Amino acid sequence: MIYAQVMAGGIGSRMGHTERPKQFLDLADKPIIIHTLEKFSLITEFEKILVSIHPQWMQYARDLIAQYIDDDRIVIIQGGAERNDTVMGAIKYIDEEFGLGQDDVLVMHDAVRPFVTRRIIMDNIKASYQFKAVDTVIGATDTIVKAVDGVISDIPVRDEMYQGQTPQTINISAFKEQYNKMTEQERNTLSDSAKVMLLAGYKVGIVNGDESNIKVTRPYDLRIADIIARENMDVQ
Ligand code: CTP
Repeated sequence: MIYAQVMAGGIGSRMGHTERPKQFLDLADKPIIIHTLEKFSLITEFEKILVSIHPQWMQYARDLIAQYIDDDRIVIIQGGAERNDTVMGAIKYIDEEFGLGQDDVLVMHDAVRPFVTRRIIMDNIKASYQFKAVDTVIGATDTIVKAVDGVISDIPVRDEMYQGQTPQTINISAFKEQYNKMTEQERNTLSDSAKVMLLAGYKVGIVNGDESNIKVTRPYDLRIADIIARENMDVQ
């Protein structure tokens, strides 16, 4: 089975003071999370589309999603305090409700990346047949500089550098097994699911993301995302 998880359990602290967490703010004609969910809802391969929501926004999210999307595969569950908790919450839900098969896959996506495309999601699904973990990346445009304590320690070859986006896709059983082996400290520091699998020794495949698959993190991103959303409306 292939499951999707739209991750909306955060509070968007870097967005500054807003009346709602950023995933519920409007871009052009509708909330960010709705833009994102519409993309996932078009993919028939998904058995369920889990939407992880911050505990204080559960009812708000239920009402909002019901207002825009009619898809009985959508299930709203509670997000966790940290990203890993949100991922593990989805895995627990799948395990309890449907039982976990060895080949079951979870395609995890940030709710605040509303411009993900069908092509990117399908490429994640296809790559999951070959790899137990998949990451979506774009080639680095700027030179990446590694610095420690204010001094450069490395300038890696740019052609080998990528920026991570989402979706990230995992074989659920393999990830769960690895996560259960991790110490509390590792769980707190390793918040990237692809890195968890990489450190466990799995080959992590890459899928080409897209420059427009931006994450709405700060007020500037919100302004850019609003422009992209309006352009998309014009071409429809
Ligand atoms: N997320 C989540 N559960 C968490 C933390 C984050 O589901 N415990 C989700 C966010 O809602 C967001 C996505 O993961 O859709 C990407 O995370 P980020 O942009 O860092 O969101 P926030 O944690 O909300 O933002 P900030 O770090 O600025 O507080």
